[in-house]
Amino acid sequence: MSQLSFSGPGQFRGTCTPPGDKSISHRALLFGALADGESQYENFLEAEDCLHTLEALRRMGVEIGHEKGSGRICVLGSGLGGLRAPANELYLGNSGTSMRLLLGILAGQRFETVLTGDPSLSGRPMRRVTDPLKRMGAQIRGREDANFAPLTIRGGKLRGMEFDNKLSSAQVKSALLFAGMYAEGKTVIREAIPSRDHTERFLEAAGARFRKTGDQLIIERTEKLLPLQARIAGDISSAAFFIVGAAMREGSEVTLQDVGLNPTRAGVLEVLKRMGARIVTQVTQTVPEPMGNIYVRGARLKGTGITHREIPSLIDELPVLMVAMALAEGESLISGAAELRVKETDRIHSMVGNLKAIGASIEELPDGSLVRGVDGFHSATVQSFGDHRTAMSMGVASLATKGTILVQDTDCVATSYPSFMDHFRGLTGG
Ligand code: S3P
Repeated sequence: MSQLSFSGPGQFRGTCTPPGDKSISHRALLFGALADGESQYENFLEAEDCLHTLEALRRMGVEIGHEKGSGRICVLGSGLGGLRAPANELYLGNSGTSMRLLLGILAGQRFETVLTGDPSLSGRPMRRVTDPLKRMGAQIRGREDANFAPLTIRGGKLRGMEFDNKLSSAQVKSALLFAGMYAEGKTVIREAIPSRDHTERFLEAAGARFRKTGDQLIIERTEKLLPLQARIAGDISSAAFFIVGAAMREGSEVTLQDVGLNPTRAGVLEVLKRMGARIVTQVTQTVPEPMGNIYVRGARLKGTGITHREIPSLIDELPVLMVAMALAEGESLISGAAELRVKETDRIHSMVGNLKAIGASIEELPDGSLVRGVDGFHSATVQSFGDHRTAMSMGVASLATKGTILVQDTDCVATSYPSFMDHFRGLTGG
């Protein structure tokens, strides 16, 4: 089991281009597989999670060209009905997105599939997806009423339904939008607080029978999807480690290039600006996904509050935002973030424990954390808990540490950001 040693204090200085967006890369593969014809993408994220989706699709007969290290993929789709039953179970590693989105697609297939994952994924709740899919007509079996993988799914004749996405989960919404393309009648999804809208953008670009009216998403049985060509935007969730690290350390100055700036994902920038961060964005592309450069200069930040309305737009950035909050002047409160407890690990527990170990003044709340800023951190050995974002966030904390933070069990970084350490060293000059 590997470990990473981060010695501080330090600053981030320089330019970095984060890897392709994880959420968009998964969807690029899935939409490519269901389209009629050849889709081509550049800047595909070659990280473990997305490679699990790729492998699962290949095992269902989809031809995917991928030259390792090039970021280019070419997906030869054979239509919405073109998937074939895999010979064995599909192992999806640590990837919740692969499992939940594939369930939506498999609900519309006429064969049986078994989906499995690593111990973390096997402990993550799936009823949020399996319950509504069963209501649409899919047969799904698994532990505790199909709440936990391994899950066995047999698709069938689906019927549309109305669904209130109370958790504001993009994975649940996306699974139902996929299933809705196979269902008789309309599937209507309501979302009071919008979650990331990448799936909707793909549906529109690929010509699905999909529309948005107010807070309603309406999908109808779709016969055909068009193949797409696109360059995938850089992942703001990966860029966030360097954006937050630079923003919270005076003397830092970084440029993050070609980062996705989709408003449903960019909450981290709004929160940092509220904390007094010096951030300027320059938009270079608006369709299919907004993208641009982000310039950040370090400053002493002040505390702020984050409540439930903002959570979906920054859910994956909360661990690293907790690091900035632990250093910001005054109090910071995160509430309405209970979803953090069912991510790759319980991220409230992992981050509060780790930040306490390096000297932060932080308290764990059922749905968030309360922190009073300190001037700096001290050396300690901390755990990733097998979670990539916890591991990388603790690396960022080392910028404000006199001494060394040793993060244990860091293989998980490859889940979303295999080049993280290269980029970290590039920006710290060490
Ligand atoms: C994702 C949605 C979010 C996010 C995850 C990726 C997606 O999860 O945390 O990393 O690609 O749709 P939820 O939909 O469970 O909130």
